[in-house]
Order: sequence, then C-alpha cells, then structure tokens
Amino acid sequence: MRLPQHLAIIMDGNGRWAEQRRLPRIAGHRKGVETVQQIVRSCREKGVRYLTLYAFSSENWGRPDEEVGALMSLLGVYLRRELKTMLREGIQLRVIGEISRLPVEVQGVLADAVARTADRSAMTLTLALSYGSRDELLRAMRQLGNEVAAGRLDPAQIDEAVLTESLDTAGLPDPDLLIRTSGEMRISNFLLWQIAYTELYFSDAFWPDFTEEELQRALDEYARRQRRFGLTGSQLRREDHH
Ligand code: FPP
Repeated sequence: MRLPQHLAIIMDGNGRWAEQRRLPRIAGHRKGVETVQQIVRSCREKGVRYLTLYAFSSENWGRPDEEVGALMSLLGVYLRRELKTMLREGIQLRVIGEISRLPVEVQGVLADAVARTADRSAMTLTLALSYGSRDELLRAMRQLGNEVAAGRLDPAQIDEAVLTESLDTAGLPDPDLLIRTSGEMRISNFLLWQIAYTELYFSDAFWPDFTEEELQRALDEYARRQRRFGLTGSQLRREDHH
C-alpha cells in the first residue's frame, strides 16, 4: 500500500481536551506528549521515513507564561526520556524554527539529542519549535539577500531549489501528507512553501485522543487518493507504465 514518505502533523486540541475534562490546559499537553510517543513509534514501525511535528509555533510565545514554561519543561523531559529510544530505534532528530528563542537549557538538550542521533537513518523525526513558516521564509530571504549583497550570488540563480535549500527544512523532501487534528481546517503558518502539493487530512479527534487507529485512517485515505501534481489523470497513468 502507498505510504507517505514524509508525514507532517499539526497537533491541535490539547487545551480543549483538558477543558472538556475540567483539567488545567497543561494536563492536555502532558497527555499530548504520550500521543507523540505512540505516533512516533507507530510511524517508525509502519516505515514512514520522515515525520514532522508542529510542537510550538512562533505565535505560541504569546500564551500565558505559565503555559509556555510548562510546554518548555515538558519538551525537556520528553527529549531526555526519549533519547535512548531514538538511538535504539534508529531515529534521527532534527529541529526547525527559531531555536535561539528557546530557553538555553532546552537548546542544550536539543543540540545534544540532534548531535547524538545524527547518524541514525531509519526515520527522521523533525520537531518544529518556535516555528513559523513566514518567519522561516524571511530568514531564508535575508540570508540570500546577504549572499547577493556580498557578491557571492547572482539573483538570477535564485530558483526553487536554491530557496528550498535555504529553508530550515533543507534536505527534507516535501511532506506527502499533512494531518491536522481537532477539527480545525487551517494551516496556521506551517510549512507554507513545502506543502504546495501535499495532501491534506483533517481529523476531528483532539491530539490527546489521536490514536494509532486514527493515524491508520488517515494513511488509508492517503493511499486512496491520486496525486496529480497539476497533470491530468491519464498523463499520470501513462507515466506509471514507464
Ligand atoms: C495544540 O494544542 C498543541 C500545542 C500548542 C503544543 C503541542 C505540544 C505537545 C503535544 C507537547 C510537547 C511536544 C513534544 C514534541 C514533547 P492547543 O493547546 O492549541 O489546543 P487548543 O487549540 O484546544 O487550545
């Protein structure tokens, strides 16, 4: 069955999951981390090569300090606890986003996990942290602008490949499938350039309720869809015979 090579997920609904149970929002995030562990394991077992998770957006910095602090500490705990598993399961960790805005301790744990898993190759797990797609594009454009100003780059050389390789996601293939949980049908500034041809899937489940069965439902739906990349169905069928 056709499996996405790169799956990206907007993990939404932790807060509402908690509010429905009259629990503090952070209880939803804590449960959300358990879902992260299950989904990472499940994707690794199924053979998904790249998994990218939207864990903290540039805009999330505007949440109450208490919630931001709790999310940062959950992230640190998760990374420390999961490093062994990542090493054992052959999972390479990558991060995208403005990492320099994260607390220094978290930056340290991240750098350590990224360095220690750098040679693992069964699956690449990318965490989007302090990530916003417009911010990523602006940083890339500023960098290219500097190259041009320094006389190292001719503007005429800037094509899709050059911009793609200037983004935080350099080296990652574009996502084949993007899942957003919790019934919201928005992209929320996630991988705008990279999802030009990505299949979108929206699940009503809140992220803490997003089970392996829910994941399988999304993968089944993906396998049924025919991606045309702007071509016609019959052009693609001809290409299939090549
Ligand atoms: C969306 O729920 C979720 C987040 C903003 C954070 C996602 C973080 C985790 C799952 C835990 C930390 C991540 C890792 C990788 C350890 P929301 O709070 O926006 O929910 P709401 O829309 O219902 O308020």
